[in-house]
This record gives sequence, C-alpha cells and structure tokens, in this order.
Amino acid sequence: MVVEWDPALALGHAEIDGQHQEIFRRYAALVDAMESGRSAEIGDLFGFLVEYAARHFAAEERVMAEAHYPGANVHAAAHARFVRELAELRVLYEVNGATTGVAVKTRTWISDWLRAHIMGVDLGLARFLRGR
Ligand SMILES: [Fe+2]
Ligand SMILES: [Fe+2]
Repeated sequence: MVVEWDPALALGHAEIDGQHQEIFRRYAALVDAMESGRSAEIGDLFGFLVEYAARHFAAEERVMAEAHYPGANVHAAAHARFVRELAELRVLYEVNGATTGVAVKTRTWISDWLRAHIMGVDLGLARFLRGR
C-alpha cells in the first residue's frame, strides 16, 4: 500500500488539495524513516505532522463555517478523532520504537484514513462548495 497522493483525490480546491499533497508527502517520509530505521527524523516528522494536520483541519473548518456547511460538526469530529489517533500513534512509537509492527500500523492506518476521509467528508464538502 503506497502512501501517496494521486489525482483521483483532487477536490478542485487549490488550498485544500495543496495541503493534502503536503500531508501525503510528509507521511510518506515518516513511513520511510520508520521502515529504514532513521529514527533521528521520526520525532521531527511527528512534530511537523501534528502541527500541520491541525493547521489543515483549521483551514477546512474555517471554509465550512464561512459556507454555513451543514455537515461541519460531523466533519470536525472526524478531524478531532484523527488528532487523537495520531497522538496515540506517536505514543506507541515513543514506547516501542520503530518496530516492524509500529511501521506497518503507521503505513496502513495513515493511508486508509487519509483516503477514506478525503474521498468521504472532504469530497462532500468540495461538492457542496461547487454547488453553491
Ligand atoms: Fe482534508
Ligand atoms: Fe477534512
């Protein structure tokens, strides 16, 4: 399973699409650092991702608020869940190190979550914005 943005995930919103691409790039770097045992990079990548995900979610939530988007609460709850699960993953790494199990979990969780979220609630938001 590749952690990679692909054009099928494009929502047609320049700011949001650009942030999604950056998230995929950095998560791919995190997975790569874990799988190659470059532990010096892992802490920094976690730090970046925690901060960048928060900034991205805030941007989407601002767009939803400005558009009076009816699905805003459900969508924001999914963001909060991601923040929680990312923090749990970071703790799992800090406790266990970059074991194969932690690396596999990181790769599958992030790839599945991002695709499902982008093709689900993010796409719903993009369609709503286009349909106004
Ligand atoms: Fe998003
Ligand atoms: Fe989102």
